[in-house]
Amino acid sequence: MKILIVGGGGREHAVAECFARSEQVTQVYVCPGNAGIARQYKCISLPDHPSILHFCKSEDIHMVFIGPEQAIAEGLSDYLEAAGLAVLAPSKQAAMLETSKMFAKDLMNKAGIPTAKYFKAFTLKEAFDALSGFALPVVIKADGLAAGKGVTVAFSSSEALAAISDIFGSEGKLNNVGAVIEEYLSGWEVSLFAFCDGEEFQSTLFAQDHKQIYDNDKGPNTGGMGAFCPVPEAEVYRKQIEDEIIRPVLKIMKSNGAPYKGILYCGLMITKEGPKVIEFNCRLGDPEAEVLLPLIETDFVDVCTAMIYGNISEMKLQFKKATAVGVVMASKGYPGSFEKGYPILMSELDKEGIYYSGVAASEHGLVTAGGRVLCIVGIGDSLVSARDKAYAHLKNIEFENACYRSDIGLRNNYL
Ligand code: AMP
Ligand code: GLY
Repeated sequence: MKILIVGGGGREHAVAECFARSEQVTQVYVCPGNAGIARQYKCISLPDHPSILHFCKSEDIHMVFIGPEQAIAEGLSDYLEAAGLAVLAPSKQAAMLETSKMFAKDLMNKAGIPTAKYFKAFTLKEAFDALSGFALPVVIKADGLAAGKGVTVAFSSSEALAAISDIFGSEGKLNNVGAVIEEYLSGWEVSLFAFCDGEEFQSTLFAQDHKQIYDNDKGPNTGGMGAFCPVPEAEVYRKQIEDEIIRPVLKIMKSNGAPYKGILYCGLMITKEGPKVIEFNCRLGDPEAEVLLPLIETDFVDVCTAMIYGNISEMKLQFKKATAVGVVMASKGYPGSFEKGYPILMSELDKEGIYYSGVAASEHGLVTAGGRVLCIVGIGDSLVSARDKAYAHLKNIEFENACYRSDIGLRNNYL
């Protein structure tokens, strides 16, 4: 059978690999993919939703997996599903759990799901006035999708005011219609991914992302500079997270007429009072996918089929008893501006454990073409050995202006 994966980053590369491991799969296409993914899988550019549908019909695609939130927010899953295709991604309406922070907060409030206290502001003045009701630090979030740039943890009033000004007004960089002002939660962060079929779910492994650009969690937030999976310290909270967070979300989404089918990403803060939701995403994380998916032993076609056709609770999910550590190599300057076009030096045969994001083809081979360039994943029987493998591999890959964190998997801030 043939599978189409929509997206073009390391996450989609890992998804392609996960499908390719299934004996049922004869061909994996990635749209648009990138020059690195194209070394292993067929990448195709399709400019719009009708062309994707046309391709699926003419190529007899069995299943479409949509990776990035933008395509889901644009309603690609609804569009393809309406034409009779099997699609693994939530509907546009269900994806509001990610695409509107206000929607997600109100829903959690209504369902009694533990999360930070919040205030919804629709104007600059409302947001400024609301600040007096929150202690510092305070968290300011743009309501809509902002490519990872919509959240500021403000440690001073002036930082909070600047973040609010960025969200509203013609001068504002984000030009958003609303802001959520939120209580700061302290604790440690972890993510849990649930495979959902609209009604039931199975939670998978915990992963931990490293969002800040520099070691020791310093500097601005990025899309993610590295991750590891699983996180044994989080296991004691699994049942509570399932009972108090995931199950109530699925129940309220269904009763609202927008059942959640697909992968639900729960971004959590483990606080002294227990796990609380920082955010929901309607997709796999990047680079979390690169460390979660290589550990899945169950046939991924069967897993996705169960989510699509409503029998996920009957699936027996199995994972490798191993740890995966992923380290992102980025272009110096990211998440701000950076230079591109530098040749990436590595062995042509070097494919295992590398997931490509911001790369392009040139007459000299692969060159850098984005902020996050690639993610290198090591798998071992412990966090230490997986880390060692990832960093040893990374030493064999070079490009000018490369930067990466040297402390992925070294946090020790569990409560
Ligand atoms: P988000 O995009 O909502 O995941 O936010 C990005 C990052 O901001 C999170 O990974 C947290 O590190 C931080 N953050 C968001 N909300 C809060 C909160 N209420 N308290 C503390 N940190 C937060
Ligand atoms: N790595 C965080 C995300 O994908 O949202």
